[in-house]
Amino acid sequence: MADAAPGRSDRNMAPAGNGAAIRIADLAFRWPRQPAPCLEIGEFAVAAGERVFLHGPSGSGKSTLLGLIGGVALPERGRIEVLGNDLGRLSGRRRDRLRADHVGFLFQQFNLLPWLSALDNVLLPTTFSALRKARAAVERSPREEAERLLGRLDLAAADWHRPAGMLSIGQQQRVAAARALIGRPEIIVADEPTSALDAERQQLFVDLLLQEAAAGGTALVFVSHDHRLAAHFDRTVELAAINRAAETGAAA
Ligand SMILES: Nc1ncnc2c1ncn2[C@@H]1O[C@H](COP(=O)(O)OP(=O)(O)OP(=O)(O)O)[C@@H](O)[C@H]1O
Ligand SMILES: [Mg+2]
Repeated sequence: MADAAPGRSDRNMAPAGNGAAIRIADLAFRWPRQPAPCLEIGEFAVAAGERVFLHGPSGSGKSTLLGLIGGVALPERGRIEVLGNDLGRLSGRRRDRLRADHVGFLFQQFNLLPWLSALDNVLLPTTFSALRKARAAVERSPREEAERLLGRLDLAAADWHRPAGMLSIGQQQRVAAARALIGRPEIIVADEPTSALDAERQQLFVDLLLQEAAAGGTALVFVSHDHRLAAHFDRTVELAAINRAAETGAAA
């Protein structure tokens, strides 16, 4: 686990002695039809089980970086390794498999299926990945594990069978968190998941997410522009400090 004091932003590399969950080297990414790269990152790594707070202003490229880590887009230059796999060398199919098996996503807009119940949304990753299904079933059935996670995240049992689209934003957020956590993926990337919550609920939510990630040995990359949450994490990284594109004014 990291030994860095919270709030330190000068260490882009994961602490030594730990297998890397994510390792980025010499990365450049440019959106189509944009004159300059949005991201140029020399080095950035996250250790297994490490919980990193990635901070940066709106438009600075945080969601873009998470998409690259998830293998949703490919960089024009450089290397992104996820659990030792070089994403650029994998076929699209194998990248999808790696993501389904090993990466939990907590999206800025949640991306729940509105007509499915809260419980079935949480169970979705176990239908796409036999590995996550098996991991969710270690101590109980996947359904019981989904219920445990929803209970942990303080969603009342009465809401478990309601369509996700009928839940409040804060409730949907907790369903999305349980969905990212189920089956103990090695990595969770969380994209600004607390922006809809008031300050007190934000802290509570982040604490629970961190506790569950720690229990699962899950590395967490948590993106936010709200510095108040940084103290809860093993390490804080300022995107501007690792992104050379920001220095040259290329990023918005
Ligand atoms: N699909 C896209 N096509 C073209 N440009 C894009 C696309 N998505 C994002 N961008 C551009 O890339 C830059 C970084 O966007 P990104 O969404 O990664 O920022 P962000 O840090 O996540 O911002 P926010 O905090 O508002 O979510 C912005 O200049 C944005 O306009
Ligand atoms: Mg974003």
